[in-house]
Amino acid sequence: MTAPIVRSLDALRDLTRTWRLAGDTVGVVPTMGALHQGHLSLARAAREACDRVVVTIFVNPKQFNNPDDLENYPRTENEDALKLAPIGVDAIYVPDGDTMYPSGFATNVSVEGLTNMLCGAARPGHFDGVATIVTKLFLQTQADKAFFGEKDYQQLQVVTRLAADLDIPIEVVGCPTIREEDGLAMSSRNLLLSDRSRIKAPLLAEVMDDVASALREGQRMSDLAPRAEARLLAGGFNSVDYFEVRDGADLSMLDQTKPNARLFAAAWLAGVRLIDNIAV
Ligand code: PAF
Repeated sequence: MTAPIVRSLDALRDLTRTWRLAGDTVGVVPTMGALHQGHLSLARAAREACDRVVVTIFVNPKQFNNPDDLENYPRTENEDALKLAPIGVDAIYVPDGDTMYPSGFATNVSVEGLTNMLCGAARPGHFDGVATIVTKLFLQTQADKAFFGEKDYQQLQVVTRLAADLDIPIEVVGCPTIREEDGLAMSSRNLLLSDRSRIKAPLLAEVMDDVASALREGQRMSDLAPRAEARLLAGGFNSVDYFEVRDGADLSMLDQTKPNARLFAAAWLAGVRLIDNIAV
């Protein structure tokens, strides 16, 4: 059976109030829909850790800096509900634009430092949009735990920071990236790849694995990055936004590996921006 779809904030609050009165813990899985196995793994983790689970679906206009990207973002609510049914989540919260950004909305949540590099540099305003909507979702659901994928590693750091800084009593839980058999990190954007591009896409993960091995052997990123980018361009990618190794906690730039180093990449393939990151 599919979970009830809750569209209004009042209905969500009624539901979560009943749960909390019964002493149940609540887990939230924030998503923009177009659910894939990565999202479903988050819902399963929430199902295991919490008495009640809410999956949220809202394609957040404030985090898109390109109107075409927002317009093309896949919207598949019915399929999403069917995919969640076997996991047995308790509610799917699907607010509309007016619920999330009512007329007169004027507040912006901005996390400094962590957001001015990587995807933050390539997509100005993106993380303010993410931080603002995630703060609202944390407050609206009043969940005890929130589940995010490591696929969006920078986002995971940003939401962890904002919850701590704003004293929101929620535990942010990071869950491992789920990959296709050929290594491509699962993403709703993969649906936008043509058949030809889909064949080329796993090269990103392949090049990242090779660079991570070379870093472990002691090579420097300043030598490896230009070669990695050239390999991606030769393999059909159109451009590379970044290909960097950074500290996994504060995201400061590194040239050589050290404990907790992570490799981050974002590259464009036929109009689709793919991102990935792995521990070195
Ligand atoms: O990762 C996403 O899908 C979105 O950035 C999120 C966390 C649901 C906020 O809109």
